[in-house]
Amino acid sequence: MRKKLVAANWKMNMTIGEAESFIEDFRMEVGEIQNVEIVIAPPFTSIPKVSELLGGSQKIRLGAQNMHFEMSGAYTGEISAPMLRELFVRYVIIGHSERRQLFGDTNAIVCKKFHTALKAELRPILCVGETLEQRDAGKEEQVLREQLIESIGEVDEDAFEDVVIAYEPVWAIGTGRNATPEQAQNAHASIRKTLAEIVSPAAADKTRILYGGSVKSSNARELMAEPDIDGALVGGASLEERSFLDIVKAASGEIEE
Ligand code: PGA
Repeated sequence: MRKKLVAANWKMNMTIGEAESFIEDFRMEVGEIQNVEIVIAPPFTSIPKVSELLGGSQKIRLGAQNMHFEMSGAYTGEISAPMLRELFVRYVIIGHSERRQLFGDTNAIVCKKFHTALKAELRPILCVGETLEQRDAGKEEQVLREQLIESIGEVDEDAFEDVVIAYEPVWAIGTGRNATPEQAQNAHASIRKTLAEIVSPAAADKTRILYGGSVKSSNARELMAEPDIDGALVGGASLEERSFLDIVKAASGEIEE
């Protein structure tokens, strides 16, 4: 059984003060929910405060939205894996489509970051997803397969234990237009098939594959009811405690719609 994981990607939102009030309220509300792992990925400047407030919580883990592939050096403006570890960050989002599209993160760069994260004992949340043009051309499976092969590279099965994959169709991110449960399930099944081939069938079976792209409390439940959808990576709807909490509850099976 794969434990559901719901991750908040705050992107370039949330000052330290805003993050503080979110975490204080959210921690109280989330109280009894045991069967879902929660990850919060604040912007770098809010990480120290969120880390302090979470105090090593097992239930709510700290994530980062990006990192550099080198451990240190002359890379102005960048943040390294050891710097994240120092702040008790456990997860790191790698290869988000905004990084790929706006900041030049190619599969080759994503692959280096992926391996650096594993080496530093950070758990990568590796993002893949097709554009609308690629989907309309019927190429989504091929695109996902290529992204996975090139972003993962050579990896051994044991190291893969810590890996989370996020399927985020580019056309669904921040657009209010989510993939249907059926579209998402098909993509997740094809991702699992590729993982079986490039890592191992056992690793593919254990790996959590999150769906991301306009997840909200109103669609979270039906998406996560699909057999290969093991949680959600949430942008816009994670900025407000109530809506994020409702998505976490949907993952735990607590709300009946
Ligand atoms: P969204 O973003 O939920 O606002 O669509 C998801 C993401 O980019 O991870």
